[in-house]
Amino acid sequence: MSRIAFIGAGKMAEAILKELLRVGWADAKDAVISDVDDERLEMMASKYGVRAAASNPEAASGAETVLLAVKPQKLEGVLRELSGSIAGNQTVISIAMGKSTEFVEALLPEGTPVVRVMPNNPAMVGAAVSVLSFGRHAGEEARDRARDIFSCLGDVYELDEKLQDEAMAVSGCGPAYFYVLAEAMCDAGVGLGLDRNLALKLVTGTMIGAGMMLRESGQHPAKLKDMVTSPGGSTIAALEALEEGGVRNAFYKAITAAWRRAKEV
Ligand SMILES: NC(=O)c1ccc[n+]([C@@H]2O[C@H](COP(=O)([O-])OP(=O)(O)OC[C@H]3O[C@@H](n4cnc5c(N)ncnc54)[C@H](OP(=O)(O)O)[C@@H]3O)[C@@H](O)[C@H]2O)c1
Repeated sequence: MSRIAFIGAGKMAEAILKELLRVGWADAKDAVISDVDDERLEMMASKYGVRAAASNPEAASGAETVLLAVKPQKLEGVLRELSGSIAGNQTVISIAMGKSTEFVEALLPEGTPVVRVMPNNPAMVGAAVSVLSFGRHAGEEARDRARDIFSCLGDVYELDEKLQDEAMAVSGCGPAYFYVLAEAMCDAGVGLGLDRNLALKLVTGTMIGAGMMLRESGQHPAKLKDMVTSPGGSTIAALEALEEGGVRNAFYKAITAAWRRAKEV
């Protein structure tokens, strides 16, 4: 019996599988994958030594956890296909953006434990933030399975499903905000005469360091900002320019726009 079946073997499935194997949560023999793209399926099976199933129902059949990693628009078809192969003791986890546990439950046998998870892009390097919401029938065993899997990939937070779109706008889309910021800081550094590679290293290290300060000091960001802002100095001059550029307002608008779009999916 497989411990975990991946339905859809794309980028996110690979990120999750890779981490589960790396941290020793699973051995290759514990995992099975399926995908409509045969080339992708074969590549994944040979790269990670896991079993490739001939169909989605074959992969799901008997697996402790069935992880749905297809695009949201493919989810309904996949659930209809899987419905006859899911039994009550299996946990179904969906990472499809914007699809509720209610939507998943409605297409599976009554009583199926369903967990909805929104990981984010740093899952690819084992540094995700994952937000978990539990369906009506997700008991402690299903909850623990989901917590266990996603804590192999980084931080896990549990949230009332009503707030998933809000979290999506912050942490789901969040990596893109930081990538744009990194690019802009590099360009500005290059504009001042820094070598681009060095500028990128300086920016990356600074972002990681600032993130670690936030996490490890436990201090409010305003306090950390005050610590590095001397009277009449360079940092306060930079902050003044950021405020003139409306940086805070741009973030309010960006995150609200992401939330609005998430609600439309
Ligand atoms: N990428 C992220 O950062 C991220 C973050 C959080 C959540 N997610 C969620 O994760 C899910 C997967 O995203 P992804 O980026 O990994 O997508 P992806 O790379 O496109 O992977 C999806 C895979 O599923 C395959 N597939 C399509 N229809 C299928 C079917 N009926 N049965 C089995 N496999 C099928 C696709 O094949 P084809 O390419 O041939 O269609 C593809 O190989 C999405 O629902 C997304 O919302 C992604």
